[in-house]
This record gives sequence, C-alpha cells and structure tokens, in this order.
Amino acid sequence: MTTASSVAESIGDSVFDCVGNTPVVALNRLFPDHGVEVIAKLELMNPGGSMKDRTARYIVETGLAEGSIKPGDRLIESSSGNFGIALAMAARVHGLRFTCVVDPKTTTANLLLLRKLGADVELVTEEDAAGGYLTSRIRRVGELVAAHPEAIWVNQYANDRNWLAYYHGTGAELANQLVRPPGYLFAAVSTTGSILGCARRLRERFPELKVIAVDAVGSVLFGGTPGRRDIPGIGSSRVPELCCPAEIDDVVRVDDAEAAEACGKLLATEGIFAGGSTGSVVAAIARKLPSLPRPCRVLAIFPDRGDRYLDLVYDDEWLTAALARRSTRRGAHS
Ligand SMILES: Cc1ncc(COP(=O)(O)O)c(C=O)c1O
Repeated sequence: MTTASSVAESIGDSVFDCVGNTPVVALNRLFPDHGVEVIAKLELMNPGGSMKDRTARYIVETGLAEGSIKPGDRLIESSSGNFGIALAMAARVHGLRFTCVVDPKTTTANLLLLRKLGADVELVTEEDAAGGYLTSRIRRVGELVAAHPEAIWVNQYANDRNWLAYYHGTGAELANQLVRPPGYLFAAVSTTGSILGCARRLRERFPELKVIAVDAVGSVLFGGTPGRRDIPGIGSSRVPELCCPAEIDDVVRVDDAEAAEACGKLLATEGIFAGGSTGSVVAAIARKLPSLPRPCRVLAIFPDRGDRYLDLVYDDEWLTAALARRSTRRGAHS
C-alpha cells in the first residue's frame, strides 16, 4: 500500500521549474499528406507563453551560479516582446532589477505585462533610417549601461548562452523525444539562437537533418531586403553576431499576411492558438511540401501562443491591410 509519506512530492521551486519539457504533437489534420509526417514542438506551452523563457532562465540561472549575476543586480535588454517578459519574470523570481528598452511598436498588452512584472520600461521614439527603432534602442541601451556601470546588458543577439539554452533545452529534449529521424527542421528566426541551438544538438543524433530558417519578408537576415514587417518575434533589421549561415540549408521568407492566414488554418484544423511566427513556419512548410522527398518527417518549432496577437494576425482589419501592403509590394516589383 502506498502511504502519503512514501509518495515523492513534486513541487517546483519557482515558475521557472515549469520551463521546458514541452510536448511534440502530430499535425495530421493540417497536413494530411501521408508521405510527409509533420510534427511540432509546442514551445508555446512554456509558462511565460514562449520559448524565450528558456533563454531568460538559462542566462539568469547560469549567471547566478557562477556569480556574474548577483541578487540586486540590474539587467538591461532591448526587447519589445517575449524575451522582455521572460526576463521580467526571471528578475522577479531571483530578486533582480530589470530595465527593458522598448519602442512604439510594443503592444499595449506587452507594456502592461512588463510594468506589472516590475520592469522599468524605457521607450525610444526616434526612428532610424530603415524605418525601424533598433538603432535607437541599442543607443539607449548604451546610454543606460554608461549611466549604470554595475548593470548587465544581456545582449541576446551576441550572447552564446542564448543558443546554448536551446542546445541543452529544446534540442536535448527533442533528441530524447524522437526515435525516427526528422529529415527537416523548420524554425522561425530572429537572433537565430533557437534554430542554432536545436540544430547543433539534433545533428549530433540525426546527422542528415536539413535545417530550414523561416524568416520574415522585410528582414535582412540571410541577405534579405529591408522593408516593413509588423509581426513581432520573427526577422531582424541587423544581422546578429550569433548568426551562422553555413549551418542553415535553406531560407524561406514569409510575409505578414501569409503568416496570419496560416495561423487561422492551424487554429481551424488543429485547434492550436499560436503566435505570428508559428504561422510563418506553417506557411513555409506548406510551400515546401510539394518538393520534399517521400516518405519524410518534418519537425517544426512553434515559439509562442496567440494571445499577444489578437489585434494583429487574428484581426480581420489588420489582415486586410497586410494583404493590401503585399499587393503594393508586388506591384512595385512587377
Ligand atoms: C515568437 C517568436 N518567434 C521566433 C523567434 C525567433 O527566435 P530566435 O531569436 O531564437 O531566432 C522569437 C524570438 O524572440 C519569438 O519571440
């Protein structure tokens, strides 16, 4: 007989103990093609709503363990979305201070969440030449670091612990979860930390794996042409220091409207309520499907949930405007 005292309790030390161990599910309803099996790792199940919980947890916990981060320290980062929220959670849990540099594209919901999590929010308003705010945000980070010499700039674009979080996290979990090799990995890119960490770990177990980066139309990663893009999380207006094009087999660029339409199809067929970059991944797979060898297994990473995109990709007016922008862009190129 099992007594209460002989049952091992399972209680996490904090919400960060719930990061990871995300499930993998088949997408047979969305992709019923019997020759190609599409499976997805649901990183959107992480407690902060996105895979960036892994980066925040890994950077903060390894920093605390080695003493490069100490309770009471101030972290500074430029992020208008998932990473800022994940760092704000980590700062709360570990008694750190956090300044998040954001821009006018940051959604009201994310601003509210950052402030409620206790982050100091610094808003930059000056647009750079490319029509974005990245230059202003990085400049403001530099000013803040100069004003607070004890502060730590997390710098997700250049910090090796970004990709290592996925090497030891998502990638290691997948290497255990999968027995039959995936032929292809499709992952959305911005800093490229998650795709590189997953690819490096998975290729140790499945050396034939082909790695497909899913980027946004308008992002300059992998030689893309700069342009307007409204879906946060995917794409970049500068090439991150972490980026290693030699490790990427192919790049698929998806525009805002195509990503939004794919989010709608994913919700309607599989009941998965996911963010914009997941729509980009789904659209990229659908585009590549006809040319894939058969039989094959495709592995997709689904980075975040749909809640933060209700007034973007799930909003009909927003989609109509995104479709109009696509027509204008195509008209300009014809
Ligand atoms: C929703 C979403 N998708 C994709 C990415 C891209 O991930 P990475 O920065 O690891 O390339 C991010 C990064 O913030 C994200 O928030």
